[in-house]
Amino acid sequence: MKALQLIKYGEIKDSLAFNEVSKPTVQANDVLIEVKAAAINPIDKSIILGNLQSIIPISFPSTSAYDVSGVVVEKGDEVRHFEIGDLVYSRVPQEQMGTIAEYIAVNSIAVSKKPGNISFEEAASIPLAGLTALQSLEHVGIKENDKVLIHAGSGGVGSFAIQYAKSKGAYVYTTTSTDNVEWVKALGADRVIDYKKENYKTIVKDADIVFDTLGKNYTLEALQLVKQGGKVVSVVGPLDEESAKMWGMTDYKLPCLLYTSPSPRDRG
Ligand SMILES: NC(=O)c1ccc[n+]([C@@H]2O[C@H](COP(=O)([O-])OP(=O)(O)OC[C@H]3O[C@@H](n4cnc5c(N)ncnc54)[C@H](OP(=O)(O)O)[C@@H]3O)[C@@H](O)[C@H]2O)c1
Repeated sequence: MKALQLIKYGEIKDSLAFNEVSKPTVQANDVLIEVKAAAINPIDKSIILGNLQSIIPISFPSTSAYDVSGVVVEKGDEVRHFEIGDLVYSRVPQEQMGTIAEYIAVNSIAVSKKPGNISFEEAASIPLAGLTALQSLEHVGIKENDKVLIHAGSGGVGSFAIQYAKSKGAYVYTTTSTDNVEWVKALGADRVIDYKKENYKTIVKDADIVFDTLGKNYTLEALQLVKQGGKVVSVVGPLDEESAKMWGMTDYKLPCLLYTSPSPRDRG
């Protein structure tokens, strides 16, 4: 079968090739998916460029990407919840990475049935960005009436985060560029901040949660903006050591940063 493989680190045009590879064999808990659609995310680009070598080491050649949708064409002996012919989608586990291929074997625990009202392409676009949004907001315990600032509301992660936060009953501020203002409003955001015309720091007040999807100065500004007792969650890599120490953080090297602003009493 054919698969898109990373053959070395570097620029995308030099580092990828369609290769002929063996069709995967299923383990007891796997389903074999005939791939109909696959999606790429910023992490795939970072892997190709070699920026994540220390946390995701790659042996070349390696088939690319994590998101997939398709049809179950084979299943392992222990698989109970899927049948041949089921339409499914998945964010595949790290060790099974490689969705841009004709077939992929995936542990069935990481697979769901595709809703009937979305296409294969739509289904493949959901898992990694959607899970990132959902897990980040759950990580900080989002709840009804929370005021939440979601940066980059028009992005893959931000667009899911807006919808998830609204479904939890939160009040959502989001930042986006002029062209995407109407679109993120339609997703449900309560106050859309056009960052080309407005300064979010003067608009957002008493945020219970800031979801940082932009990094650098946005992470530091989130720490300043969140109200006392509020939380910052970031999916844009670790904070630098000096800033982390200044904010009294100990877990700042985690890829997903979580910060709880001390309550007034703790601040003294
Ligand atoms: N996708 C994932 O599954 C995933 C998982 C973990 C971590 N992450 C990280 O999360 C970040 C976002 O990922 P993504 O997949 O959502 O990226 P994306 O789909 O490429 O979206 C990025 C968005 O950022 C917006 N943007 C750019 N500058 C902005 C600014 N100054 N203020 C507000 N919005 C701005 C752009 O929208 P406008 O045109 O409106 O400016 C764009 O839609 C990346 O750093 C990525 O590495 C992503």
